[in-house]
Amino acid sequence: MLPGPRRPSGFGLLLLVLLLLPPPLPAAPGTDEPRSAWAWPGFPRLRERMRAVGDLSKRYWALLRCQVWPDHCEDDGDAAAGPPGWSLPLLGQQYLDVLTTWYCSFQDCCDSGDCRISNNFTGLESDLNVRLHGQHLVQKLVLRTVKDYLETPWPDKALALSFHGWSGTGKNFVARMLAENLYRDGLKSDCVEMFIATVHFAHSQHVDLYKEQLLGRIQETQQLCLQTLFIFDEAEKLHPGLLEVLRPHLERRAPEGHRAKSPRTIFLFLSNLRGNIINEVVLNLLKAGWSREEITMEHLEPHLHAEIVESTDSGFGHSCLVKENLIDYFVPFLPLEYRHVRLCARDAFLSQELQYTEEALDEIATMMAYVPSEEQLFSSQGCKSISQRITYFLP
Ligand SMILES: *[C@@H]1O[C@H](CO)[C@@H](O)[C@H](O)[C@H]1NC(C)=O
Repeated sequence: MLPGPRRPSGFGLLLLVLLLLPPPLPAAPGTDEPRSAWAWPGFPRLRERMRAVGDLSKRYWALLRCQVWPDHCEDDGDAAAGPPGWSLPLLGQQYLDVLTTWYCSFQDCCDSGDCRISNNFTGLESDLNVRLHGQHLVQKLVLRTVKDYLETPWPDKALALSFHGWSGTGKNFVARMLAENLYRDGLKSDCVEMFIATVHFAHSQHVDLYKEQLLGRIQETQQLCLQTLFIFDEAEKLHPGLLEVLRPHLERRAPEGHRAKSPRTIFLFLSNLRGNIINEVVLNLLKAGWSREEITMEHLEPHLHAEIVESTDSGFGHSCLVKENLIDYFVPFLPLEYRHVRLCARDAFLSQELQYTEEALDEIATMMAYVPSEEQLFSSQGCKSISQRITYFLP
């Protein structure tokens, strides 16, 4: 079952408005006539309270402004301090978030037009180059296609990328990098949805229900955000009927006059479908004396594409997306070698701020199984569960 919709609650908004309203005026004792404010003894106290409420609203405004336009946020820490006795957790970051979401749903917030969308291509490039190991084709292809697509002023279709490769080669890792660099809240963003075939669409007899749910979820997310990302993990197990739902997004739309903003949608399909053919091609090239970095898309894409179209054992291979060439790119993740596994081990130590020795890296890399049995070249699990393995080396 799909998780419930995430919408800002109108109740929270109402509460916020109530919070910002001044408290009711105290009744002037012993008189029916409204007295002149100046003569009324309680006035200084009221003025005090009004000022406090005014301050409070100003704080809220300052905080909202920071959240909506982070670039124009004063950095003096003043906004966070608040008047004495008042702190943000007390009144609720939650209301601020609700207000921000609501505000951004109809108003341009940040440079991107929506402060939930960060599109940090510098960060994406750096992540792909520094944190991903052994995937020179992925680095170039993913950055270029995603950047080009998101910078197209009026895209006429969604972008569909299909990641292929053995487990542990970095498909999920790259999907997460995309979410984290394109959206302020990463995978938790309102604009990002992740589906796992065996979890969300586990029973093929319910495919009609799943279709409805998926359609609804896509529409809902697109209403919330002008730029959305949908990730389908274990895509090889998706029912071809379910993928029909995506067809209208991936066919070119007729230009309907230039609207102020065109919705942008990225579909990522992650699968190990035909990972074997990638490994085979790479193995043959390496044996023929090529270096890994000399391998190009031209070596791989034709094989991969042909094999996927031929694959009758997978719903994804069967689906209209593949048969009708609606997938923009088949992205091959290469099998990882010993030296890459070592780098993953190093990253795992560093990310936990632990000291490591070269011997420990070797030991971890040696623990993995390598295939084919003759050459012992590729880690059969890639870099999977490396971070758990380093626990053996903790002091
Ligand atoms: C983009 O990402 C880089 C690297 O993660 C980071 O240093 C930089 O501050 C980010 N830029 C923006 C505008 O968020």
